[in-house]
Amino acid sequence: MTLPSFRLDDKVVIVTGASKGLGRAMALGFAESGADVVVSSRKVVDCEKVAAEIRALGRRALAVACHVGDWDQCAALVDAAVAEFGRIDVLVNNAGIAPVPPSLSEVTEELYTKTMDVNFKGPMRLAGLVVEHMPAGGSIINISSKASLRPSPFTMVYAAAKAAQNTLTRAAAQELGPRGIRVNSIVCGMFHTDSFHRAAPTAEAQSAASRGVSLGRIADPDEIVGTAIYLASEASSYLTGELILLDGGGS
Ligand SMILES: NC(=O)c1ccc[n+]([C@@H]2O[C@H](COP(=O)([O-])OP(=O)(O)OC[C@H]3O[C@@H](n4cnc5c(N)ncnc54)[C@H](OP(=O)(O)O)[C@@H]3O)[C@@H](O)[C@H]2O)c1
Repeated sequence: MTLPSFRLDDKVVIVTGASKGLGRAMALGFAESGADVVVSSRKVVDCEKVAAEIRALGRRALAVACHVGDWDQCAALVDAAVAEFGRIDVLVNNAGIAPVPPSLSEVTEELYTKTMDVNFKGPMRLAGLVVEHMPAGGSIINISSKASLRPSPFTMVYAAAKAAQNTLTRAAAQELGPRGIRVNSIVCGMFHTDSFHRAAPTAEAQSAASRGVSLGRIADPDEIVGTAIYLASEASSYLTGELILLDGGGS
C-alpha cells in the first residue's frame, strides 16, 4: 500500500487569528509541511512578523488584516488570498474570543454580538466564501472548544457560539462532501496562550485548571498543530463532519 501523506506541499492555507497563540503555531507548522500561508488577524503589523518567519522557512506568505466578525472584511480577505495565490486549499477558522460576563443577568448585547460574530458568524462567512475558490481535496478546519460540549455558567455565550460553530462543521460537511471538500473541528481543551493566561493568571489557577485533565497538564499550542496538519492533509481524506476532542483526556 501507499502510505498516506501528511505533507502540504504547495497547498494554500488561510489561518485566521494567526498573529499569535495557536494560530501562529499552526501557520508555522503548515509552512514547515510545505504550504504557503495567508496570515490574518486584525493587527497586520503582527501578521507581518509571522509572515516573515514563514518566508524564512522558504515558503510564500501574505499578511492580511481582517476582523472576522465583519462581513465585508471577510470578503476582502478571501479576495486578497485569491489575488495572490489563485486558489485556497485549506481554511482554518482559528480566530476566537471568550469574554466572561459576571453573571447571566449581566450579559450585554455588545458582549453577545461580539462573541457570536467572531466565533460563529465569521467562520460561517469565510467558509461560504472560500469554497468558491477551493478545489476538490480542500479542507476547512474550525477551532472549537470543549466548552461547546461541556458548558459552564460564565462561558455560556462563548460555549453557545462554539456549539453553533460545531453545527457549521456538521452541516457544511454534508453540503460540501459531494464536491470533495471536507469540514472538521478540533475541539480543544486548554492550552497555554495569552487568552488562557488572562483566564488563569496564577500558578494556582493553572494548576486547578489542569486537575480534571488525564495527562495532568495544560497543553502547549504546538500539541494542537499535528492534528491540524492531519486534517489539512490527504492523510485524513475520508474524515469529514467530525469533532475531534483534543483535551488531554478528562471527564
Ligand atoms: N487557549 C485556550 O485554552 C483555548 C481553549 C479552547 C479553544 N480555544 C480556541 O482556540 C483559538 C485560538 O485561541 P488562542 O488562545 O490561540 O487565542 P489568542 O492567543 O488570544 O490569539 C487570538 C488570535 O485571534 C486574533 N483575533 C482576535 N479577535 C479577532 C477578530 N475579531 N478577528 C480576527 N482575528 C482576531 C488575535 O489577533 P489580533 O488581536 O491582531 O486580531 C490573535 O491572533 C480560539 O478560537 C479559541 O476560542 C482556545
